[in-house]
Amino acid sequence: MSKDKAEVESALLRALQDAGIDSQSFASDRGFDHDVVVNVIKSLHSTGVDMVDYSEEASVHYSLTEAGREVLERGSPEAQVRESVPEGEDGVALADAKVGAAGAVWDEGFKFAMQLKWIRLEKGAAPRVRRVEGVAASVDPIRDLVRSVAASVEASTEPAGVSDKDMDVLVKKRKLVQVTKVRKYVATAGPRWALVRQKPATDLSADVLEAVLAGEVRFKEYNFETLGGVFKVGGLHPLLKVRDDFKSVFLGMGFEEMATNKWVESSFWNFDTLFQPQQHPARDAHDTFFLERPETCRSLPADGYLARVKEMHEVGGAGSIGYRYDWSEDEARKNILRTHTTAVSSRMLNRVAREIQSSMAPFKTRRFFSVDRVFRNESVDRTHLAEFHQIEGLVIGMRLTLGDLLGTIREFFAKIGLRQLRFKPTFNPYTEPSMEIFCFHPGLGKWVEIGNSGMFRPEMLGPMGIPKDVQCIAWGLSLERPTMILHGINNIRDLFGHKVDLNLIETNPVSRLLA
Ligand code: PHE
Repeated sequence: MSKDKAEVESALLRALQDAGIDSQSFASDRGFDHDVVVNVIKSLHSTGVDMVDYSEEASVHYSLTEAGREVLERGSPEAQVRESVPEGEDGVALADAKVGAAGAVWDEGFKFAMQLKWIRLEKGAAPRVRRVEGVAASVDPIRDLVRSVAASVEASTEPAGVSDKDMDVLVKKRKLVQVTKVRKYVATAGPRWALVRQKPATDLSADVLEAVLAGEVRFKEYNFETLGGVFKVGGLHPLLKVRDDFKSVFLGMGFEEMATNKWVESSFWNFDTLFQPQQHPARDAHDTFFLERPETCRSLPADGYLARVKEMHEVGGAGSIGYRYDWSEDEARKNILRTHTTAVSSRMLNRVAREIQSSMAPFKTRRFFSVDRVFRNESVDRTHLAEFHQIEGLVIGMRLTLGDLLGTIREFFAKIGLRQLRFKPTFNPYTEPSMEIFCFHPGLGKWVEIGNSGMFRPEMLGPMGIPKDVQCIAWGLSLERPTMILHGINNIRDLFGHKVDLNLIETNPVSRLLA
């Protein structure tokens, strides 16, 4: 503690022994700096110390202006004018009085002296000013009200015995007194007041414990409110940063996030609901990780949806001829690590279908997205891993068209700074039409594939019970591809997995991505 503070602290604690103080008068009476006094009060009050209690009060201070000080010295202008008019019946000619003793204060003094009836003006060809007799006592300097208020203001910053109305006149009309707002702290002895600050114990040792138990020392109280220091540790992995960027783009476009917590998924939701035939090569163990334990899932939808999916695969419906094979529920039950987040979209669409069916309200467009991990049984190389992240967006709405899909995708990618896009027709079992999305990469100087998209087929939406005039547009991309492009990484193993380059974590792709 600085010498200054120590001095203030001991003076304050001593003063509080007798009575409370207010910080302003305490500081000015003893010549202390007010800020130091306030600091000391607060520190003697702070958590667990409790040597001082205080409350904060806003108050106003009055002081004399230049003109006010003049009044204090010479009397109010009206008193000066009155003084300058000689006693007796004759008085003085107005013209002479004006150049007389009152000088510069004449105008103001004359006005008020007239109002107070201290002087009288005799009009005529040569007007004269006369004293009004019988008021001599009231012009005595002691009865010069304005001067005596000035004297009280000079004596105290909070003068007592001056009516608010008078003060108002002196402040606003006559500008003799000025007002400043001040904050003061009214301090009293707290529950643990003492002449000398007692340091609460912060260590836990046998000695301290004994002293605490004997009531000689007390422990410092724990401050649960404190925020603690900010540690500069760790940082978001580039993938997580880019993921957050994509999330905020989706949220900004009004998309709701879907729950992606099912890394283990049934073949039913990952493939069958997406009208992916059971003989499809992607359903082979070469492309998909199958689970050994538990090998199959326990529950599949029991509300007829399963039967409708089976029927769509076997014989089709609503204009489709299906795949014409015997659909096997056992195959659909097989557990896998999901190969794409479209499994998440499929579950969500089936839920939306239930909502459409049970609601009387007209159907409103819904937008969903997800960002999470998917798994593929691929051989690992510099651009492929057996697990990666997928970003997926979908919009379900009335009479959506391919134009809506193109527009939405363009808007989405523009938000992350990718404006040069091209679309190429492709095939997905669950979308028709389907398009691959390419973007021009200025760094590489070529077009690179960044995503896949399409309009979900009626063979997928029909069994869910989604009405014919409601369409669903969707697109998906990997999180790793744009992150690698952004960081100029050409080996995915530097970005993801146990060989990740920790230096990457220090860099900040967020600003660059959204710049
Ligand atoms: N599921 C596709 C993939 O894994 C992406 C996609 C999503 C395509 C939605 C069309 C519609 O690449």
